[in-house]
Amino acid sequence: MKQINPTYIQFLRDHFRLDWQGIHGAPHWARVRANGLLLAEQTGADAQVVEIFAFIHDAERRSDGSDPDHGPRAARLAQEINEEFFQLTSRQLDLLVQACEGHSLGGIKACATVMTCWDADRLDLGRVGIKPDPAMLCTQAARQQSMLEWAYKRSLL
Ligand SMILES: [Fe+2]
Repeated sequence: MKQINPTYIQFLRDHFRLDWQGIHGAPHWARVRANGLLLAEQTGADAQVVEIFAFIHDAERRSDGSDPDHGPRAARLAQEINEEFFQLTSRQLDLLVQACEGHSLGGIKACATVMTCWDADRLDLGRVGIKPDPAMLCTQAARQQSMLEWAYKRSLL
């Protein structure tokens, strides 16, 4: 089942405090989703969790600058709205919470689904002038030259 549907997008539009088209807005979320689904084919990540991560991990940002609590806030939001919008199992929700809470802390070790979420986000750093460093990525799939280049080109759009 497709996880990101018009009802959820409308919720995000109403909820998101920053520029919808900005560096932490919907175009970024769409690229993170695409990155994550490609990576998931190789990492064995739970694709449902990856898709929802893409469209929630920055949804609680209150600033496009430093906002160290936005990950934990996104994790809490995920727990609040799961039954309304996603119907994840408790195991999936736990993975989503871990992925959201830790996504901006720079960690590189976690389970496959969480690492795939983090890499999907980091592969989109070109939009803020940062070329992803393979040493800061979690998975072999993300460190492949072809993946790095594909995601980097898209991140500059
Ligand atoms: Fe992000």
